[in-house]
Amino acid sequence: MITIAIAKGRMQDDALALLTRAGVRFNGYSSESRCLISADETGDYRAIFVKPADVPVYVEHGIADCGIVGRDVLLESEADVLLPLDLGIARCRLVVAGISPDEIKSKGMLRVATKYPLLTANYFGARGTPVEIIRLSGSVELAPSLGLCDVIVDLVETGRTLQENGLSVIDVITESTGRFVVNRASYQLKAESIGRLLNALERALSGVAA
Ligand code: PRP
Repeated sequence: MITIAIAKGRMQDDALALLTRAGVRFNGYSSESRCLISADETGDYRAIFVKPADVPVYVEHGIADCGIVGRDVLLESEADVLLPLDLGIARCRLVVAGISPDEIKSKGMLRVATKYPLLTANYFGARGTPVEIIRLSGSVELAPSLGLCDVIVDLVETGRTLQENGLSVIDVITESTGRFVVNRASYQLKAESIGRLLNALERALSGVAA
């Protein structure tokens, strides 16, 4: 059996739709359900639904053979996993955003709130900008207007959350899409099954029906 860790939330529906097109159907699973594990109809696969940041953890430790998660999360985690496929789903950008572009210029020490402390430190470090990083777990867009920080580093997909909280993009750090990742040992030990799944996903991505 192949275990696939799927990031819950914004990517989950697109990931399941893509797997269905690849012939892997978790028919027993509903997004309304609270059950966090589901077997497919053949019994060859099971999906586990975990927080995005935990997908690389499950895959790196081999609890899941493979996973579907955003490039942003993988870069932040620095997990040692194989990265065979860009699935092109949940396309978004990791940005620096603030109330005004001047926020970034006029400060000695910039206070930055984010769920991405490593990527934030790398970005500002490369520019020689001293920063105090304030780690948050979500709803990061609230922080500037409440005075917790000068700018945020966060994901933007449609831009609605930024706009509705009075923020705009100051700089784009990187782009992100959903990636299919594989545990190093599983890639060797389950080479045939994982190869079959990769082929099916590639065919689904190129529009060939399973
Ligand atoms: C993500 C991200 C932004 C929002 C962007 O949050 O952190 O807050 O989506 O989407 P938009 O540009 O389409 O408005 P998520 O929904 O993952 O929840 P979170 O705030 O709890 O991190």
